Amino acid sequence: MTPVDRLHVAIIMDGNGRWALGRGLPRVAGHRAGAAAVRRVVEAAPDLGIHTLTLYAFSEDNWSRPPREVTALMKLLGRYLMEETERCVKNGVRLEAIGRRDRLPAPLVALLEQSERKTARCRRLHLRLALDYSSRRKILEAALRMGSTATEETFSEALGPDVDLLIRTSGEQRLSDFLLWECAYAEMVFTPRMWPTFTGEDLAQALDEFRHRDRRFGRVASEDSTARRTA
Ligand code: FPP
Repeated sequence: MTPVDRLHVAIIMDGNGRWALGRGLPRVAGHRAGAAAVRRVVEAAPDLGIHTLTLYAFSEDNWSRPPREVTALMKLLGRYLMEETERCVKNGVRLEAIGRRDRLPAPLVALLEQSERKTARCRRLHLRLALDYSSRRKILEAALRMGSTATEETFSEALGPDVDLLIRTSGEQRLSDFLLWECAYAEMVFTPRMWPTFTGEDLAQALDEFRHRDRRFGRVASEDSTARRTA
């Protein structure tokens, strides 16, 4: 079980486009504001007891967006890495990309690898950026690799840590091919807030809600001494 100070929080950062269009701005302005929200959340996470933070930055399905938007997103991601890597090192944030790399622009892959190298020893927060990511693909690849030797443990190890809390912004309530195996027992918090307006305070509130949930992992309710509250 996950001790309360080693939480894995995953976020589906949704609503950038709607936030921008609602202000008469191009969708890309929403992504720019979304990148600022990423900075806020990464800054706030370690002091809230979060040990691993996985952010859904670009799904395999996002390639079907207009080319201009895809290019802008790739540039934003590159800029984020250029501007934030040193701060990550200073703040003990280990950065890692999960997802395919072979279709990402080469300069972005180079920046990712450089950031991963520079932050490899950081231990305060493990920041995982899901880029060109599909959970179904990850599961399929692990299954093909392991074949009949797979166990629940080795499979979980190959995919990554179980998610304790999944947050999705913008009022949508679905997983969209994100961490399907890892979310088996995740608590979920859906907030109407659009991602560009999400703050460290919102993250703290979501965690507060999470800590008041009764996580039973399939067992019977509260009087059972094995039932666990997260706080
Ligand atoms: C979903 O909003 C958001 C994305 C597909 C991209 C997320 C990217 C960022 C937050 C910015 C860059 C990321 C980093 C890590 C620096 P949407 O565009 O689908 O919004 P909509 O549903 O309102 O159209």
